Order: sequence, then structure tokens, then C-alpha cells
Amino acid sequence: MSEIVKIIVEGKEFEFPLITGTEGEKAIDISKLRELTGLITLDIGYKNTGATTSAITFLDGEKGILQHRGYAIEDLAEHASFLEVSYLLLNGNLPNATEFQNFEHAISEHTLANEGLEAMFRAFPTGSHAMGQLSSMIAALGLYYPKALNPHRTEEAINRTTIRLMAKMPTICAMIFKKRNGHPMVYPRNSLGYVENYLNMTFGQVTKPDFEVDPILINAMNKLLILHADHEQNCSASTVRMVGSSQSNLYSSISAGISGLWGPLHGGANQEVLDMLEQIEVDGGNVQKWIDKAKDKNDTFRLMGFGHRVYKNFDPRAKIIKKACNEVLNKLGKSDPILDIAKKLEETALSDPYFIERKLFPNVDFYSGIIYRAMGFPPDFFTVLFSMGRLPGWISQWQEMRREKQPIARPRQIYTGQTYRVFVPMKDRP
Ligand code: SDX
Repeated sequence: MSEIVKIIVEGKEFEFPLITGTEGEKAIDISKLRELTGLITLDIGYKNTGATTSAITFLDGEKGILQHRGYAIEDLAEHASFLEVSYLLLNGNLPNATEFQNFEHAISEHTLANEGLEAMFRAFPTGSHAMGQLSSMIAALGLYYPKALNPHRTEEAINRTTIRLMAKMPTICAMIFKKRNGHPMVYPRNSLGYVENYLNMTFGQVTKPDFEVDPILINAMNKLLILHADHEQNCSASTVRMVGSSQSNLYSSISAGISGLWGPLHGGANQEVLDMLEQIEVDGGNVQKWIDKAKDKNDTFRLMGFGHRVYKNFDPRAKIIKKACNEVLNKLGKSDPILDIAKKLEETALSDPYFIERKLFPNVDFYSGIIYRAMGFPPDFFTVLFSMGRLPGWISQWQEMRREKQPIARPRQIYTGQTYRVFVPMKDRP
């Protein structure tokens, strides 16, 4: 017998189903609430509201657990490749050798981006933010495949678009990196693995055909992309789902997700963290002063890279990235005073009652920027790398929403504006 919840409205009792997920999470199914009671719920920011069921990612914020299709993020980051994890998110299971080979080959056949896209770079202001360029480029990419814009796409056609996006995202990200530095782009080499190909297009030079990517960078980038691959119904994934729910095409849905991720409260935090750490360094490294600013309600400053809507324990990804940070800097023979400030900031915050009471821990963005900088990326490029990692997650969320034929997302509201007023012609207005 299914569990129920009773709600009493003006003395009348109504029953609603209580649903339970495979990990024991429970929710009141209120899909008939307005029909039965005339009421809606109000939950600004959706802090208590589930927008969907999903079989892609499970996270437990209290326990600091993150799993993709049942696999722990720690295992995936340690043992899998980013392309394997992408296959897992998109198809529901880890690939066997043949499935992986076919997936990797299909992607390698679509790595070139239409040369027409290069003209867009001449329109972008010099030095303009890489995320604005990426969002524009992905929306424009869809225009080269007009059939992809057809809302009633077949499964086969959606899979072709999925492969095209997975294949061309690294190429477009590398194009942005090269063009903003005024350098010629380096074309993809299909003989290279997915991550190595991206790093070769980014750091390789047309004048150095024998350039080889440092395996340390390949391993670090592979791990970072895995750690960013999906995170259930975060702001940008919800944006991708919402745009896709109108039967808008996958290119424009992903472009919208990139825009959502750009925000400093979301994926843009990795750039803000580095700016914050540099600010603290320039300010003499007085960590306590900045902790006090973060706690001061009259100060708009927040400790970037700290806190999370869901994690009220350590973000498991932050732990893995912190460890990788030390490894990458040591292997690259680089030290970074910013890392020392980050560690001191973390240590001080985690012993401060303000952060302890509010369960504010370092999140995925706190350490990632330090590694990206050590690898040679400028701060405004960090969220581009977050986007590349999150792409398979966004696509998986979009595909799940479309496969389940979910209705167009259209939340309700409670109106608090002016009640009816008689229109007065301008000549009669005081
Ligand atoms: C990502 O959702 C996801 O899964 C996102 C993500 C993903 O993989 O997709 O994990 C990636 O976006 C990580 C988060 C990156 N953002 C930041 O690091 C920005 C700094 N963090 C905060 O702005 C904040 O913690 C949020 C936005 C992440 C979460 O905000 P919430 O859930 O809306 O919490 P809140 O703003 O209501 O804060 C609760 C309390 C408040 O204090 P009180 O009013 O209770 O006194 O905690 C305080 C806040 O002022 N607080 C902070 C703080 N974060 C929350 N105080 C100082 N510094 C902070 N960073």
C-alpha cells in the first residue's frame, strides 16, 4: 500500500501520495494539489521542491555522497576516464571495451567545427569573457544543423546531436582560447584521446608539430572533468531542462545552461575564488579579516567556494580536488602562495562557529581554480572548463526529460502587485 500524507485545508482533509526514491528519499507528490484544494505551494529558490524524478545522479548533502548511475564519484575519479563517465551518464551503464571504442570513434569523426564559426571571433570584443563567447558559439553551432532544430527529433537524431556536441565542445573551447590570444587554432588530431586532444588544441602550436601534452596535465584534466560531469538538479542543469521542456533544440538548451553556470554563485565561483584569494594575498594574507567580512551581514562579501545548497558536509569533489592540487603542483614543480592562503582560509573557516553552525564547507569550486591556473588557464576560462566537464551531465538531464515526455516547465506564482485600477488617459493624469 503506498504511503500517503494528509493536508488539512480550511478543515477539509486531503490525501497526497508520499513517494520514495531508490535511495530512500521521500517526497509529497503534489501534482494534484491545485486541482483538489485550489492552493499552490511557494518555495522561492526551490530549496524544498523537487522538479523531477531522475535516475542519473544521487547526492546526499548530509553525508557528502555523490554517485553517478550508482557509481561513487571517488571510484570514477580514480579509475575511469572522462569519456567513460560521459558514456555512463548518457547511457546508464559503464561501457565495455567495444562500446567504448565505438563511442570514442563516433566522437573522433565529429571533432571539426564548421569553419564559418571562426568569423564569430571577429565580432567578439577583444578580451571579452570566455563564457559569453562559449554560450554564443554553442547556440550558433546549432544553426549549422538546421534539422537538429526540429522539435520532433528521433532518438537517432538526438544521439547524433549528442555526439556532435561532445565532439565539438573541446574544439570550440580551444578555438576560444587561441583566438582571444590572437593565435591560429590548432586542429583536432583524431589519433589523440579526448582530453589529450583538447589540451593539444589548447597548448599546442601550429609551429611545433612535435609538441606533446604533459601526461600530468592529461591526468589532472581528466579527473577535473569527471568531478564536474553532473550534479543532479543544479541551477544550470535545471535551466537546460526548462529550456528543453519547451521542445527547444539541444544546442540552444546547452547554450542556456552555459549562461546559467556563468553566474558567480554557481560555476562562475571558481573564477571568483581565485580573485578572492589574490585579493587576500595582495591585502597581506590576513585571512581572519576576510573571514570576518564574510560573516558581516552588512558586508556583501561572501567566502567564494564555500557553502552549497545541498551539501551540508564536505563536497566530496572538493576533497579529491584538494588532493589533486598538491599532486599537480608538486609534479609540475610549481608552488603557489595562493594555495597556502586557500588552506589557511579553509582551516580558519572550518573552526569558526559561523561556518560550523551554517554547515558551510569548501565546494567543488574552492580548489579547482588553483589547478587550472597552474595548468596555464586564465581565471575567466575556469568556468569554460567547468562547462566542458558538465556537458555530458546536461545532455543526460535533457535526454531524460525528453524521453519521459515531461510537460513544459511553467511554475505558478503568488501575485503581490496592484489590484485592478481604472485606466486614466495621460492628459488626465496629475
Ligand atoms: C556550484 O547546486 C549545485 O550542485 C551547484 C554545483 C554543481 O556542481 O552544479 O555544486 C556547483 O555552484 C557550487 C557553489 C559555488 N558557489 C559559491 O561558492 C558561491 C559562494 N556560496 C554561496 O553564495 C552559497 O553558499 C550558495 C549560493 C552556494 C548556496 O546558497 P544557499 O543555499 O541559497 O544558502 P543561503 O544563501 O541561504 O545561505 C545560508 C546562510 C546565510 O546566512 P544566514 O542568513 O542564515 O545568517 O549561510 C550564509 C548565508 O549568508 N552563507 C555564507 C556563504 N554561503 C552561505 N556566508 C558567507 N560565505 C558564504 N560562501
